[in-house]
Amino acid sequence: MESRLRATHPLYKVFAFCCLLGLLVYLTQRRSDNSDFEFTESIRLPTTHELKVEENDLPLKEHLQTQKYYVKTSKCEIPYVDPFTPEVMEFYKPQTLVTCTNDSDLISTEYSPKIQRYILRIDEEVAADLLNNTDVEYNCFYREVKYGSEADTFDKLKANKYFTDGYVVPIHVEGIVVECRTADEPSILLQKDAFTFVQYQPLPKDMKQKHAVRKPSVIMYGIDSLSRINLRRTMPKVFKFLQGVGWYEMQGYNKVADNSFPNIFAMLSGYSAETAKEQICDTDSKGCFDKMPMIWKYFKNASYLTGYAEDESALNHFSYCKPGFQKKPMDYYFRPMLKAFESKLDEYRLPDNDLMRYCMGRRIANRYIYDYGRMFTKRFVHERPIWGMFWSSHFSHDDPFLPSAMQDKILSDLLDLKDAGALEKTIMIFFADHGIRWGRLTNLKEGFLEERLPMMFIYLPPWFRVTYPSYVRALEINQHRLCSNFDIHNTLKHIIEMGGTPDGPVLPKSFDCPTCQSLFHVLPEDRTCAQAAIDNHWCTCEPYIPIPDTDWTDQISRSVIDRMNEYFVAKNLTKLCSNLTLHHVIKTEIKTGLNVKWHDERLPEVEKAIYRVHFKVNQNSADFQATVVYNNVTHISEVNVEKISRTNSYREDSTCIEEKNAKLYCICFSNLKQ
Ligand SMILES: *[C@@H]1O[C@H](CO)[C@@H](O)[C@H](O)[C@H]1NC(C)=O
Ligand SMILES: *[C@@H]1O[C@H](CO)[C@@H](O)[C@H](O)[C@H]1NC(C)=O
Ligand SMILES: *[C@@H]1O[C@H](CO)[C@@H](O)[C@H](O)[C@H]1NC(C)=O
Ligand SMILES: *[C@@H]1O[C@H](CO)[C@@H](O)[C@H](O)[C@H]1NC(C)=O
Ligand SMILES: *[C@@H]1O[C@H](CO)[C@@H](O)[C@H](O)[C@H]1NC(C)=O
Ligand SMILES: *[C@@H]1O[C@H](CO)[C@@H](O)[C@H](O)[C@H]1NC(C)=O
Repeated sequence: MESRLRATHPLYKVFAFCCLLGLLVYLTQRRSDNSDFEFTESIRLPTTHELKVEENDLPLKEHLQTQKYYVKTSKCEIPYVDPFTPEVMEFYKPQTLVTCTNDSDLISTEYSPKIQRYILRIDEEVAADLLNNTDVEYNCFYREVKYGSEADTFDKLKANKYFTDGYVVPIHVEGIVVECRTADEPSILLQKDAFTFVQYQPLPKDMKQKHAVRKPSVIMYGIDSLSRINLRRTMPKVFKFLQGVGWYEMQGYNKVADNSFPNIFAMLSGYSAETAKEQICDTDSKGCFDKMPMIWKYFKNASYLTGYAEDESALNHFSYCKPGFQKKPMDYYFRPMLKAFESKLDEYRLPDNDLMRYCMGRRIANRYIYDYGRMFTKRFVHERPIWGMFWSSHFSHDDPFLPSAMQDKILSDLLDLKDAGALEKTIMIFFADHGIRWGRLTNLKEGFLEERLPMMFIYLPPWFRVTYPSYVRALEINQHRLCSNFDIHNTLKHIIEMGGTPDGPVLPKSFDCPTCQSLFHVLPEDRTCAQAAIDNHWCTCEPYIPIPDTDWTDQISRSVIDRMNEYFVAKNLTKLCSNLTLHHVIKTEIKTGLNVKWHDERLPEVEKAIYRVHFKVNQNSADFQATVVYNNVTHISEVNVEKISRTNSYREDSTCIEEKNAKLYCICFSNLKQ
């Protein structure tokens, strides 16, 4: 889920057209006093004294000041970035939460563990308020959300069903939209709301016997576009929580691709998006995702109960520019509810950031997702192994500072899971896919790192730490070693194997990274990006630093364009494709190498170096990004043209040729604009 149309920022245009033919280039509570009930809608906000950090930890501030590197090994140095530099503080402002409604809840739900059912409550006092204290009669109805014939659709809401206070929700109902209205025509709407239910499923008989080896549950709590730098900046309270006992931060975690889909896909399948397309099926064709060897299938085979939820249905990982699933992929799959709620509930979008819903109905959009995740976890984690992934984009994807408004909500989710004892049972992965990819943060010196270093925290429950001390030691060491999405994939597979019998099947590991491994084994000290399947273009081990645009830097982009024009000659395309000429350079960066220290102010002069250039040509404003070796004396660059990234849509630029590779670079004479 990425790139969407937004007129205000040029980079949005660059990424906007990827939906066209799917041809985007690669780069391209209330807390109950009554212990019988769990209130699933609102939860208690934490007080600061609850956020205890272990006593032997350094005080946070001091710790931040002393750290110079996330990773410093013989082949990889990822500098630590101060999240509060004066340059950032010039434009960073913590934001305040917008309230979605000031009205009290007329309807609420409770889960009664005693009868293992949900109950609907109607608050008479709130009703009286909404009725202006008249004795007008009113009625409440709900409409059940039905799963559609194809999993990624929903057919329709079922007919209105009347209910009163104390109504026990039938066991088959997974989501409802409710309305209370005055009885007389024309009726007046008092309040509308929507709820999801994670209905209890009893343990199958064969799982009732105690399993010989304990299977650790895994909950993946994801936030789109949140780098470890920006987490420290915008959610310090959450970061502090994540410093607690049992949490490990993978500080050398480096993304393997540009946007969400290929990064999430690599983690959940072990395949790069390109290889999967070649080896399994075309992810742009209907039914393909159903065939992919996704991690939840392995969890399911190992008797885990599976759950999944994401917000913003148009931008979901498997649906944005992609066909989604044809069959319900997990036991508890939120998408049909999301589609129904999106179509039935009012929405609120921030005036200056209106791509995604901020409020949906009476709640912040991400509440539906994380509440679902918490319900799923609490419902089952104490009696059977579960795997679930719960992901939100709407508050972090477009405004890098919006997470600051959300931090109390996120923290209260974590504290709620802790209070419910879920952290006694589950391995939790608190993570992101990549950092912010456009805007002011990316223009800073550390913009390169911001884009490439998503947060990645892993929590190990106490029993796991006691049972597997060597895995814990390995994870501790690996916190400061380079790792990637493919290692996380192998770690998940390792977790599944751990809960099986010793002679159980060995699961296939990351296809696209034979040198990747479970993070429960010590990673090699001298690991390189290549060994973690991180392409040079994404590798942060040897940082690139932006250099100011001058005549000599323009020459680098010009020399790349020379290579492209030669490519047309070599491919006999000069009759069809226009020669390209530089319009302007968007950004030039130089790879500093490990001998040049990131924290040094000045760079030495060098004859030959590796640069990354991003430029536009005059022909149809086509946009390219290339990593090149450039000689500053001879002005010659070495670059494999077929590895240059096209960073805007080429659909209407190369209709004269069919060849897949050349199509990225050719601007047909017949398609030339102006
Ligand atoms: C709720 O009340 C606050 C404070 O009076 C106000 O600023 C805000 O706009 C109100 N929100 C809604 C959704 O009415
Ligand atoms: C209560 O009063 C408000 C404000 O006058 C009005 O908008 C609303 O329709 C009234 N509600 C009912 C149920 O009459
Ligand atoms: C799950 O188990 C079935 C039956 O043993 C097997 O055919 C299938 O390949 C397994 N799927 C995965 C993803 O392991
Ligand atoms: C196009 O570029 C090629 C390769 O640099 C060059 O040989 C040729 O003269 C150029 N053609 C025009 C019309 O500029
Ligand atoms: C080059 O392309 C032209 C038409 O574009 C074609 O007629 C010619 O045969 C091609 N030459 C080679 C050597 O492929
Ligand atoms: C490249 O050459 C220009 C002009 O001679 C000089 O200003 C610049 O610093 C050089 N760049 C590097 C990285 O050596």
